[in-house]
Amino acid sequence: MADKKAQLTVDGLDAPLDLPIYEGTIGPDVIDVRSLVAQGKFTYDPGFVSTASCESKITYIDGGKGVLLHRGYPIEELAENSDFLETSFLLLHGELPTAEQKEEFVSTIGKHTMVNEQLVSFFKGFRRDAHPMAVMTGVVGALSAFYHDSLDITDAKHREIAAHRLIAKMPTLAAMVYKYNIGQPFMYPRNDLSYSENFLHMMFNTPAEEKPISPVLANAMDKVFLLHADHEQNASTSTVRMAGSTGANPFACIAAGIAALWGPAHGGANEAVLKMLDEIGDETRIDEFLNKAKDKSDPFRLMGFGHRVYKSYDPRAVVMKKCCDEVLAELGLEDDPQLKMAMKLEKIALEDEYFKARGLYPNVDFYSGIILKAIGIPTELFTVIFATGRTPGWIAHWNEMIGGEYRIARPRQLYTGHTKRAYPKK
Ligand code: SDX
Repeated sequence: MADKKAQLTVDGLDAPLDLPIYEGTIGPDVIDVRSLVAQGKFTYDPGFVSTASCESKITYIDGGKGVLLHRGYPIEELAENSDFLETSFLLLHGELPTAEQKEEFVSTIGKHTMVNEQLVSFFKGFRRDAHPMAVMTGVVGALSAFYHDSLDITDAKHREIAAHRLIAKMPTLAAMVYKYNIGQPFMYPRNDLSYSENFLHMMFNTPAEEKPISPVLANAMDKVFLLHADHEQNASTSTVRMAGSTGANPFACIAAGIAALWGPAHGGANEAVLKMLDEIGDETRIDEFLNKAKDKSDPFRLMGFGHRVYKSYDPRAVVMKKCCDEVLAELGLEDDPQLKMAMKLEKIALEDEYFKARGLYPNVDFYSGIILKAIGIPTELFTVIFATGRTPGWIAHWNEMIGGEYRIARPRQLYTGHTKRAYPKK
């Protein structure tokens, strides 16, 4: 029950409106405006900058302090001590798994890594040079055509099986997207490998040659997945929740999230960062591009910089940069030109008044692309990697909503179009 309230005085209404205020465990209070519609009023918040769309216990972000907690655990500590599947369990179930629970979870995920063989034919409908995100959106949406036994969203067991299937199959599908693109045969998953080793196996091994997977690259891959696992009510997670609020099946909801993630303002930024670094080409051109980024008449934005919530450092960028340094050092790539360019760009931008005044810092996408490139992932597949890492977060939010009380998401609008007019007589 709300103890605190806001009073809203509205011209034309006889008395001020009392709006309940709810407090979270941490973070901003929220003002419940649901009673406004009865007064014939809507709130107006394009882009939902000041809008809490739901109550959640999964992830907390403090953009001013650069804090990111998953079920209360700081991302820095999870990145240091946990792994992607353990963090996935945490996001789904709210607590870190015991040793037995983790062993069972890893084993369960391993049992769902293969996809229905019919999907191989489904791939054949795409051009070989289709963008990987176009294929990923299609094949994940198609999963609902195969799994009729886990589509009763009111059944918690069905929801759990769907969660396991999605977490398990995303790397398999991501690797299939890559293999299809380069014209190589698909590699089947191997249950004797860890989640990230298995992904790199399916990506880079062939039936003709199976090389051992580098533990350095597997660890870096796992950390990239972990750092992308969840991020509160971002655009793609909100899309998953909105699709889920209609009762759509989980595979369709995740496909909707993948489509939303594709945009360069969101998950497509990691691909855009490397393209931007290549376009800048030489450190002497950094100022030219910073000026383009500041020029309101120029649509160019500094990719990998800025964030709707973080107005200080994105804590994931700090961990990603550390991981980047470690991987490139291990691979003897410390002098990677794109890394050097990125570091120079970051240094100059962070000293620039325009960026400082707007709280524009590197975000999760600024360094992730450099690690992915060092691992051997092609640029066009970067957002597919992001989608694979974000799947446990998406499905945890979907499950939290469907497992609780929810209503179909149906925003209203400020209408500024024509008033009623008659169709002209012929
Ligand atoms: C992700 O929401 C999430 O949590 C997303 C994410 C997740 O994990 O799910 O963190 C993943 O999407 C990270 C963001 C990746 N995108 C990029 O790196 C693309 C570049 N960034 C910008 O497009 C932008 O910063 C956004 C989209 C990320 C945020 O947009 P906002 O919150 O709408 O910011 P804004 O447009 O209101 O910017 C405020 C000001 C504006 O200038 P003024 O009008 O005040 O003069 O900052 C400027 C903007 O023009 N600005 C930039 C800029 N980002 C914002 N100027 C130049 N370069 C930039 N990158």
